[in-house]
Amino acid sequence: MSGKITVAEIRGRKGRGSITAVTAVDYATGVWCRRAGIDIALVGDSLAMVVFGDETTTEVTVEEMARATRAVNRGMEAEGKKEGSAPRPLLVADIPLSGLDDPVSSARRLIDSGADAVKIECHELGGSALREIREAGIEVMAHVGLLPQEIERLGNYKVRGRTPEESERIFETARDAEERGAFSCVVEKVPVGIGERLTEILGIPTIGIGAGPNCDGQILVLYDLLGMFDRFRPRFVRRYADLSTEAVEALRKYAADVRAGRFPGEKESFH
Ligand code: KIV
Repeated sequence: MSGKITVAEIRGRKGRGSITAVTAVDYATGVWCRRAGIDIALVGDSLAMVVFGDETTTEVTVEEMARATRAVNRGMEAEGKKEGSAPRPLLVADIPLSGLDDPVSSARRLIDSGADAVKIECHELGGSALREIREAGIEVMAHVGLLPQEIERLGNYKVRGRTPEESERIFETARDAEERGAFSCVVEKVPVGIGERLTEILGIPTIGIGAGPNCDGQILVLYDLLGMFDRFRPRFVRRYADLSTEAVEALRKYAADVRAGRFPGEKESFH
């Protein structure tokens, strides 16, 4: 095996830009992240929407997150057995909203499933959970700006930090998260200037998603990036593939072959 990306290494990238992060949800996507040389694989609670088809991220359970984390970890480890494989990405798992009832045991469950660290959305509940989890010796990535777990309270996914009060609250929340021991901070859907300012004032790396080009790194939801999820498409997403179209084409070809008696053929049959 050829080593792994650590929390210390991610911290050390502050000010050097270019941390690459993406979500991962299962064995195959764990393999892909490592094979592609990604720095951070996040088992994000967005899997509730892109994998389970939920309307929001708020109903996914710690058990579901733990199962996905184990699968991603297995994929990354299997890839690592290959000659010349890339370092194992840092594996971070989201603490879902339901896990905040008992944040330390939720965090432990995710760490026991192979995560190196957990991520916490820094709303009212998440902020205090962050300190408790750090006190239990577990590494935490903070998340500020748009917090999808707040959807029921706020009712929309609009850009955050457009008013002076709201931007000040984001700065304070992020500073507080750093003080409580977060090793990095995801910044979601804020104006470019806020992503830039946060990157200046924090001593930990910022990882932007819809937060402009001046963060220390970038993250996207894998299903968005690969064009696998088309229920809606946030403006900050760039699609690097159209796997949904390719998958449907492949399925049509398979169905046509079965209907026409072309599958299975000699090569796929036993005698
Ligand atoms: O759950 C998720 O996918 C996330 C990313 C948006 C950072 O938290």
